[in-house]
Amino acid sequence: MIPPMADGVLSVAVEVAGHAYRVEIGAGLLAGTGERIRAMLPARRATIISDRAVAALYGERLGQSLLAAGIEYSLLTVPPGDASKSLAVAAELYDELALLRHARDEPVIALGGGMVGDLAGFVAATWMRGVPVIQCPTTTEAAIDAAVGGKTALNHASGKNLIGAFHQPRLVRVDTDCLATLDDRDFAAGLAESVKHAVVADAVFLDWQEQQVEPINSRRPDIIAELIRRNCAIKAAVVAADERETSAQGVGRAALNFGHTIGHAIEAAAGYRLRHGEAVALGMRAELALAEECAGLRPGDRGRVEQLLAGLRVAAPERPPAGRVMSLLGHDKKTRGGRLRLVVPSGLGAVQWLEAPSPEVLRRAIEHVLPAGG
Ligand SMILES: NC(=O)c1ccc[n+]([C@@H]2O[C@H](COP(=O)([O-])OP(=O)(O)OC[C@H]3O[C@@H](n4cnc5c(N)ncnc54)[C@H](O)[C@@H]3O)[C@@H](O)[C@H]2O)c1
Ligand SMILES: [Zn+2]
Repeated sequence: MIPPMADGVLSVAVEVAGHAYRVEIGAGLLAGTGERIRAMLPARRATIISDRAVAALYGERLGQSLLAAGIEYSLLTVPPGDASKSLAVAAELYDELALLRHARDEPVIALGGGMVGDLAGFVAATWMRGVPVIQCPTTTEAAIDAAVGGKTALNHASGKNLIGAFHQPRLVRVDTDCLATLDDRDFAAGLAESVKHAVVADAVFLDWQEQQVEPINSRRPDIIAELIRRNCAIKAAVVAADERETSAQGVGRAALNFGHTIGHAIEAAAGYRLRHGEAVALGMRAELALAEECAGLRPGDRGRVEQLLAGLRVAAPERPPAGRVMSLLGHDKKTRGGRLRLVVPSGLGAVQWLEAPSPEVLRRAIEHVLPAGG
């Protein structure tokens, strides 16, 4: 059963490194965002950062809610696409913030998917050594994963997310109405992170998703809100225990990298033409095969996860050759002392480190999901 709240808003409390904030999830929440910010922060001005596609759809709605609460705003937009997560685009945003005289106590509001969340989050983390950021995620990827946890990043020519900072938001507002306009491919891709959260931390949540495949695919609002709530709760718990992925005991925040070590190499090998979640789904399937061979994962458990990903229609339209992924894995930033180190599930809801799997074992696992050769 879904726990109903009097006003129809679901909420998750996050507390990370002394920063306490809430994730609020519900239909129509953009409208009340101005009031919420006004109640939290003294500033009477704000800067919304968005991409042009999202701004055209929702910029006005968010802007009106700010004005209604007595907060003046400026809307800065960047081109859609991960290429905007760059130092060059960040520099243009700094120029605009300078022109606006955006002050230290004034919030930046990130309105968009994970690209906008990372870019606006990084700009907010660094402008005047840090101004408040409010995350308003509009994709499944961002609502399920990127908006919570405080990681912000820009891409560098030599790799994705290489420039970054930790900067926790003051508030996360997920207006589930926004997800209605997301295309099917983006909607499904973000669900890969939901499967990831269940596999690494919550087997009961995996059961729940198996039972809710139909309503998730048809975007039933109450089910989508509950899906996001459970994901944010898992992410909040993992991040609260290990904000900076430096846990000395156990796996810590690195658990969230399940599927991403191989997934990032697949993204790069495919020339970044796959959605992040599509590459992560392939990465998870390869890492599950690895887990079955090296970490005692039961074959039936791997089958369940594969079936759930298929049911949620997380499918990559192209697959790069395994050989290209193998060579890129040598350059992953999660290698330690040149040895590949991955997080793999030992069962559903439990993870462990896997150190330096042999190239033969690794290749077999990757060829489970990608064509041989390359
Ligand atoms: N910081 C983190 O913890 C974290 C976690 C996961 C992913 N990420 C980052 O997130 C990014 C991927 O996020 P994404 O998949 O949301 O991509 P995205 O932000 O590029 O959005 C995908 C596309 O959907 C469009 N869009 C967004 N919201 C829409 C809506 N409501 N209706 C219609 N169209 C909409 C965008 O314009 C874009 O074209 C990557 O850069 C990744 O590195 C960060
Ligand atoms: Zn991810």
